Amino acid sequence: MMDVGLVGWRGMVGTVLLQRMREEDDFKHLNAHFYSTSNPGGEAPKEDSDKGILKDAFDIKTLSKMDMILTCQGGDYTQKVYPELRKAGWKGNWIDAASTLRGEDSSVLVLDPINSNQIEKGLSEGKKDFVGANCTVSLMLMGLGDLFKKDLIEWTTAMTYQAASGAGVSHMKELLKQMNFLSGKVHDGIDKRNIFDIDQLINQAFLEKDFPQEFFGHPLAANLLPWIDTEVEKGQSREEAKAYLETNKILGFKNKIPVDSTCVRVGALRCHSQALTIKLKKNIPIDEIEDMIKNSHEWITLVPNKKEETLKELTPVNVSGKLQIYTGRVRKMLMGDEYLNAFTLGDQLLWGAAEPLRRILRKLLF
Ligand code: HSE
Repeated sequence: MMDVGLVGWRGMVGTVLLQRMREEDDFKHLNAHFYSTSNPGGEAPKEDSDKGILKDAFDIKTLSKMDMILTCQGGDYTQKVYPELRKAGWKGNWIDAASTLRGEDSSVLVLDPINSNQIEKGLSEGKKDFVGANCTVSLMLMGLGDLFKKDLIEWTTAMTYQAASGAGVSHMKELLKQMNFLSGKVHDGIDKRNIFDIDQLINQAFLEKDFPQEFFGHPLAANLLPWIDTEVEKGQSREEAKAYLETNKILGFKNKIPVDSTCVRVGALRCHSQALTIKLKKNIPIDEIEDMIKNSHEWITLVPNKKEETLKELTPVNVSGKLQIYTGRVRKMLMGDEYLNAFTLGDQLLWGAAEPLRRILRKLLF
């Protein structure tokens, strides 16, 4: 059996990954070696196949003995350890959640229900670096499936509503602390007070020095933040720039299609939503489009474009924690027969992060 080094398994994506690996009995098919950047020598999870002791995640010598390394540790770790390992002559497979290697020619972006052809191509070319794509991009592609795979889209916008989980554990906790702080301001009862008094109290609360905003830097509760990540060129945020670059790389498109958007952080906990305006390459009847989406892969649920079903099913509350991607609000737009509206939702930590990594690991084992 192959020796697989696991790094960053304690973080949010790593925890979800481990949970999924346990659910799918993946540990039966590999020798797991748990690594730590902060606690080498500590106790490893029960699946550790060596001595149950955490190995040092910066020790190139033990890492070099692995057939594969899977890391959810983040970009700084990849930047430091990956080049050292390759320089030391390590030829194993590197599976990574971080964005560091996504733009490299040597890497394959993995999202197998969408790009198994690109994964096979990468394997046949001897590629060794397999990287999970940006969560928003992966979830958009999973939600529209064959419309992208069959190259039927001329361009699209993806206006996002991204959950706090995309920013990390501290941010999720901060959102809840903000909600707590605000609700504490009306502890004597919302129903007893005038709504304009409450509104004023809340607005004052945002300005208090104790208002918890160390991580977001701004209120997210009772608010939204229409900028995610740093600024890049052309007025885009880095999150927005990834949509174009990674969509086209995942699909292996030589004739790149424009994907542009405004990425917005909202007060959902772990589910990313996106409203899409799609310009199709040709007029396709709506029932054919629905069939195509529905039959794209087994992890897609198409919600009829009806009020009741939409409000019940097409929400972060319903979709969070599920592997299934939900797509709805599918309809032709007033702009013309080639313009399609759609709304997609997916759990940012599952298909948005952990699941594509788990599946490429599984594939590489056999
Ligand atoms: N960058 C994403 C976000 C998460 O901030 O929501 C990781 O893909």
